[in-house]
Amino acid sequence: MKLTVCRKAHFNATHRLCNPNWSDDKNLKMFGACNNTNYHGHNYELTVKVKGEVDQETGMVYNMNDLKVLIKEHVLNRFDHKNLYADVDDFKDLNPTAENIAVAIWKHLRPHINQNHELSIVLAETHNNYVEFNGEF
Ligand code: NI
Repeated sequence: MKLTVCRKAHFNATHRLCNPNWSDDKNLKMFGACNNTNYHGHNYELTVKVKGEVDQETGMVYNMNDLKVLIKEHVLNRFDHKNLYADVDDFKDLNPTAENIAVAIWKHLRPHINQNHELSIVLAETHNNYVEFNGEF
């Protein structure tokens, strides 16, 4: 019997989206407010989903406190109150879009979660826009 357990977290960060090979005009048209030269912020809402068998001894799929600690240590400490474009190594040569941030979060968490569990990352950049990454490369 497999279930998915979900843990929410949030972080605040600034970013700037830009393709350095494009003109200022083309960047502004594509990325809009996210292209703002002096950056701008988002309140990112993160949902970490872990799917697996219910452990017969505990009745749980995953220890949620362990998951909370992993998220704090490997995601929030890295991204919260940071300038993703300038401060975070993941985005030195990568646009910090919700898509790319979700993949980065997956990569940071995956090594710390037992391979018997599937991991999926849902990241909302606004109330209406969110992405999900489940490790399909
Ligand atoms: Ni933005």
